[in-house]
Amino acid sequence: MTDFALSGCGGKMGGVITMLVSEREDCRIVIGIDKGQATSERPYRVVSSPVQMEKTPDVIIDFSHPSALDGLLDYCLTTGVPVVVATTGYTETQIQQIKKAAEQIPVFFTYNLSLGINLLAGLARRAVDVLGRQFDIEIVEKHHNKKVDAPSGTAIYLANEINDEAGGCYNFVYDRHSVRQKRGANEIGLHAVRGGTIVGEHEIIFAGHDEVITLSHSALSKEVFAVGAINAAIFLAKQKPGLYDMKSLI
Ligand SMILES: NC(=O)c1ccc[n+]([C@@H]2O[C@H](COP(=O)([O-])OP(=O)(O)OC[C@H]3O[C@@H](n4cnc5c(N)ncnc54)[C@H](O)[C@@H]3O)[C@@H](O)[C@H]2O)c1
Repeated sequence: MTDFALSGCGGKMGGVITMLVSEREDCRIVIGIDKGQATSERPYRVVSSPVQMEKTPDVIIDFSHPSALDGLLDYCLTTGVPVVVATTGYTETQIQQIKKAAEQIPVFFTYNLSLGINLLAGLARRAVDVLGRQFDIEIVEKHHNKKVDAPSGTAIYLANEINDEAGGCYNFVYDRHSVRQKRGANEIGLHAVRGGTIVGEHEIIFAGHDEVITLSHSALSKEVFAVGAINAAIFLAKQKPGLYDMKSLI
């Protein structure tokens, strides 16, 4: 039995994880962390910061907000508790903080916890190998109207995977609105659409001369991310210090 603390337990992902964990026998949520108000219906005690937990859990799952990162990492570095960092929207400095913490504690960090997106990244790498630099690459992502960060962490992750496969030759372009010039060959364009209740859609467009190849993934519910987070946490609780991601889990 793996004991979780769930950071951001009052949010949408917190709700889905709470429901899914209640149906499993290999793990349980022993405490929640959330600075918000809407947490009274959770079937466990909720505190407003990690230092208020009396007992150390086996692992913390975090689906909250970038502003929670300092407190979370301070707690984990002091106690040695592993952490699954699933929140998105971090600054480059915060990402370096997460990687530094992984030198001392087990950290699972990924922009996308679904198996499908990680397969999509592998397919995109293959497409880059086959198509070379003859095709222009654009990434379009669509999410619900409550999402605060744009473009999505997953879109940036996909762009990074493509750029890595291409030897780092691409620049990322987020906005063509203010620039009146043709698209450069070294660009990956990233575009965010926000509306309604779209859970998460990512499209990678390879546009060549007279042909277009599109790789796409649609998440139909938040459960795909929640299941990934639960499995990642059970895995991480048994690991040595280090930085882990979906590739480690697969
Ligand atoms: N990695 C993935 O696969 C994946 C999948 C889905 C969502 N996410 C990310 O997870 C995060 C949460 O998503 P959500 O849809 O549940 O959002 P949400 O806004 O519904 O919930 C966030 C919760 O965190 C709480 N919170 C905010 N700041 C906090 C702080 N400083 N300390 C403690 N709690 C705090 C809020 O009160 C809220 O209850 C987002 O960044 C989202 O992009 C990642």
